[in-house]
Amino acid sequence: MLRRVNFYLICCAFGLSVLLILAGSRYADNTYYRPSIESRRNIRNFLKVDEPVEDMYIQSVTTNSYNGSPDIEKILNKTRYQIKYDLSKYNFSKSGVRELEDLIMESGGKPLHHLIVSTWRSGTTFLGELLTSIPGTFYYYEPFMKDGVIQIRGPPDADRALSAMKDMFKCKYTDKDFYEYGKKNMHQFSHNTRLWDHCKYKRELCYDTEFTARLCKLFPFLTMKVLRVRLRLIQDLLDDKELNLKVLLLIRDPRGVMESRHHRSWCQPAPDCWDPSLVCADMISDYVAAGRLLQQYPDRLMVLRYEELALKPNVTAHRILKFLKVDNTPQMSEFLQTHTNVEVAGVSSTYRVSRDVPFRWKNILDFDYVEKVQMACKEAMLLWGYRLAYNATHMRSKDFYPLEDYTISQ
Ligand SMILES: *[C@@H]1O[C@H](CO)[C@@H](O)[C@H](O)[C@H]1NC(C)=O
Ligand SMILES: *[C@@H]1O[C@H](CO)[C@@H](O)[C@H](O)[C@H]1NC(C)=O
Ligand SMILES: *[C@@H]1O[C@H](CO)[C@@H](O)[C@H](O)[C@H]1NC(C)=O
Ligand SMILES: *[C@@H]1O[C@H](CO)[C@@H](O)[C@H](O)[C@H]1NC(C)=O
Repeated sequence: MLRRVNFYLICCAFGLSVLLILAGSRYADNTYYRPSIESRRNIRNFLKVDEPVEDMYIQSVTTNSYNGSPDIEKILNKTRYQIKYDLSKYNFSKSGVRELEDLIMESGGKPLHHLIVSTWRSGTTFLGELLTSIPGTFYYYEPFMKDGVIQIRGPPDADRALSAMKDMFKCKYTDKDFYEYGKKNMHQFSHNTRLWDHCKYKRELCYDTEFTARLCKLFPFLTMKVLRVRLRLIQDLLDDKELNLKVLLLIRDPRGVMESRHHRSWCQPAPDCWDPSLVCADMISDYVAAGRLLQQYPDRLMVLRYEELALKPNVTAHRILKFLKVDNTPQMSEFLQTHTNVEVAGVSSTYRVSRDVPFRWKNILDFDYVEKVQMACKEAMLLWGYRLAYNATHMRSKDFYPLEDYTISQ
């Protein structure tokens, strides 16, 4: 009897240790154990301060408003309430107004318009998410995806693009193509989290122009990023007296840009994306335009290199807030904390903008390719303060620091 019990015990112990060994080797295989997407999300949620109001809000919206046809009035009402709540501690004099209503179109106010101008793979995802972390932000994520992988540099496309941008900033929705494209490509809307909160349950709401126009008019901060419109055209928007526009131009080292574009299959067939001489001609054009616009509108354009944002996210983010005339909020501080330097139980967050990211190309690209890019980009790199690598050894060495100071001549 006793032997039998012992036998079972031994079997159990043996089974258990086999399991442990199997589990151990599984994790040992990937030296860096990465949690699944789901558990990463949990880590992120875990870091989030509980917001009972938001939970209640989402719950009531899901259970009440979306069975059958959504109750638009109720959604708008709750959004109004939510924005007020989120900004209850906001210092509006930082934004040059007395109170929230001064920034709300529905109440006869005028919102702050923020525009990110950049190009593909230049770090706009992080910058865009940083700005959307500000409560009360309605975010247009690249309205010209429908145009394909092209740059808009002048007529005839420029007029159409600029008037579409003006309309969107004024909560007017006239661009039919934008909505047609969006019906098949929901990611055009999903980055606008404040809209997506509603249309993820009821897709039609995303392209219901009457609903989106009314929703848009509740928000104090209207933010947009464009990757396909060059800076010189933006003058037209700055001249528009109806807009309260501030522009962030985001530039990145063309070697880093091109390295990152190698991982995108849609880029190679498109010369505007793949040909370094076109990419860098745009960088020169942006440089010249930046000089002119800074002279004309010194407090309405900020130029920023992605590398500086990645290396000093906190300092740079606060500079950006100051420029945009937006008060610091706990939501943004939390975003910076969770996306730039958090480590939970030894697992670094994938949302993190690591110090290594901006210069990763140094260890990945062939020097032959880098030389080709540098030949096409010599002038653009000189203007924007990117140093040349002389040879493969130099490029890979720790002593080679690609950044130097630059000034925008006006
Ligand atoms: C909007 O919310 C307020 C306050 O919660 C409530 O008094 C009002 O009846 C609501 N209006 C609609 C149309 O739901
Ligand atoms: C709000 O901001 C203004 C301008 O920066 C400042 O003078 C004022 O002290 C701030 N108010 C509070 C309550 O922090
Ligand atoms: C981030 O920068 C702000 C303003 O420069 C500063 O007050 C704050 O302490 C910084 N936070 C961290 C974590 O360094
Ligand atoms: C690479 O460039 C550096 C800096 O100009 C130079 O000192 C070095 O001799 C070069 N090495 C080779 C292998 O050409």
